[in-house]
Amino acid sequence: MCGIVGYIGHRQAYPVIIKGLTRLEYRGYDSAGLAIFDGEKINLCKTKGKVSDLEKKCDNTLKGTIGIGHTRWATHGVPNDVNSHPHYSNSGELVIIHNGIIENYDSLKQELISRGYTFHSDTDTEVLVNLIEEIQKTQELKLGKAVQVALNQVVGAYAIAVMDIKKPNEIIAARLGSPLAIGIGENEYFITSDASPFIEYTNNAIYLEDEEMAIIRLHKPLKIRKIKDDSLVTPDIQQLQLNLEQIEKGGYDHFMLKEIHEQPDVITDTFRGRLLPEQGIIRMAGIEDNLEKFLKADKITIAACGTSWHAALVAEYIIEEFARIPVEVEYASEFRYRNPIISENDILIAISQSGETADTLAAIKLAKERGAFVFGVCNVVGSSIARETHAGAYTHAGPEIGVASTKAFTTQITVLTLIALRLAKAKGTLSNSDYQMYLNEMGTIPAKVEEALKQNEEVLKIAQVYKDAPNCLYLGRGYNYPVALEGALKLKEISYIHAEGYPAAEMKHGPIALIDEHMPVVVVAQNQNHYDKIVSNVQEIKARNGKIIAVVTKGDTQVRDLADHVIEVPSISEALSPIITTIPLQLLSYHIAVLRNCNVDQPRNLAKSVTVE
Ligand code: F6R
Repeated sequence: MCGIVGYIGHRQAYPVIIKGLTRLEYRGYDSAGLAIFDGEKINLCKTKGKVSDLEKKCDNTLKGTIGIGHTRWATHGVPNDVNSHPHYSNSGELVIIHNGIIENYDSLKQELISRGYTFHSDTDTEVLVNLIEEIQKTQELKLGKAVQVALNQVVGAYAIAVMDIKKPNEIIAARLGSPLAIGIGENEYFITSDASPFIEYTNNAIYLEDEEMAIIRLHKPLKIRKIKDDSLVTPDIQQLQLNLEQIEKGGYDHFMLKEIHEQPDVITDTFRGRLLPEQGIIRMAGIEDNLEKFLKADKITIAACGTSWHAALVAEYIIEEFARIPVEVEYASEFRYRNPIISENDILIAISQSGETADTLAAIKLAKERGAFVFGVCNVVGSSIARETHAGAYTHAGPEIGVASTKAFTTQITVLTLIALRLAKAKGTLSNSDYQMYLNEMGTIPAKVEEALKQNEEVLKIAQVYKDAPNCLYLGRGYNYPVALEGALKLKEISYIHAEGYPAAEMKHGPIALIDEHMPVVVVAQNQNHYDKIVSNVQEIKARNGKIIAVVTKGDTQVRDLADHVIEVPSISEALSPIITTIPLQLLSYHIAVLRNCNVDQPRNLAKSVTVE
């Protein structure tokens, strides 16, 4: 949560920072601000609202080639102008931006108040900048050293950038728990939460590790130090694979719609070099290198949050069915705070699009402490989770900017299905013919997703009918039960319609009481193993006058006769169907949200990357 951007170089900092903040707005968008050093003083402009509101307020009046900016997702203090970042220290000489939470901010604040400091905002960040100032003054330290001493007193998480009026050619950046990348150009540096703000300027990037700080000076080589023991770290400069097109809307009205339509291509990218049906092979380095561990594992625990947790539920069904290894799925936030049974014979798979989710990271650390082997399924290359895990597989979905996850979900399932099939092959738990059949079918998925996307117009018509519904139920069975959960999550998060997902048979145990002529019920009714059961469920809804929107297999007749609306998707084995059946549900929530004039890409109260617990 929160995006940070810093610039030091030869360009005007204002446009670089504004553009960078716009790209990072997915991380939080309740307020924004920036501070630019004009050679004499540090000028600051900030506001409640989005980066576009900030632009209106500052009106490009801030000049200078060194600056920092912030887009906020509030943790301490309501979103308002005063709580927005950057924050000055009491003297006005230091200015800071911060992504994270200082947990012991209250005790530090009381101590600073007793020393005469005053506070204007309710934020933990203002405490940190004044702590740095106090240390600078009382211990007569330069900026970098003072930041280091302050951070050693802090409990919590941070990615920060600090400027000092006395040090006009310097920015200090540091991280613990929140991401921080540094772009290295020709006589210029970019300090950002991810690489998107600087891809048009440079491909060279460094990702700071936890408890590292960078001393960034104009015309000087970058220095990285360990915050705890002050030791120097050799910078590991990486070449970025991102390009500008990937992070722009490309003609679509919203990032979410673009990302929904990218799915055939990104699933193909996910397969590339891994799925080789003609040779009967699945090749994934992270699995091959650790195959013995997987084969000997007593159980696999999968920890994740939100949509990634839904992908984990699909994986539970697939891994147990194909590879016959027991799987448990955990909300990372619950796993980390109970005393889970996990040991060196177990494997933890952590799934995360952003690779920065605080609860998932904490679950990984706990599992590692208990000796488990930890495997990551992440989208963002070089993210904290990708680096914290012993091994892993990237999903290769490309940047996902829309806050509601779409292509990340289907590529996560793609990777997890490949893993399940690879393990099944190694264990001999699938017959050769079934294994080969699944490999062949996997290869047809991108084209089938493309075909499912052609239902867009049909889905739009259905959205027009139900856009004002106050509630909605989603039902599915087996592999499509998690799809029902995901469909409901998509609808509620972007359209603010209350929606719940259930396994279809659970309806009788409570939710059926809600069904009347006003209740739309979305049923994922694949013509597969549980078909007769799902037909019975549809009949039960019909008998209570519920409105039925059914996602059916192409050519279906039975459910079609019962349903008020049908959306056809191509036929595929049930185990592989979630990637296809989820497509119309993504489109449905998208169209309903647009028709309700909701901010599809930046729904209220949400952020793309949840780096606080
Ligand atoms: C929903 C959504 C969230 C995320 C969750 C986990 O559309 O995007 O529920 O799935 O916050 O995020 P990652 O996968 O980045 O760990």
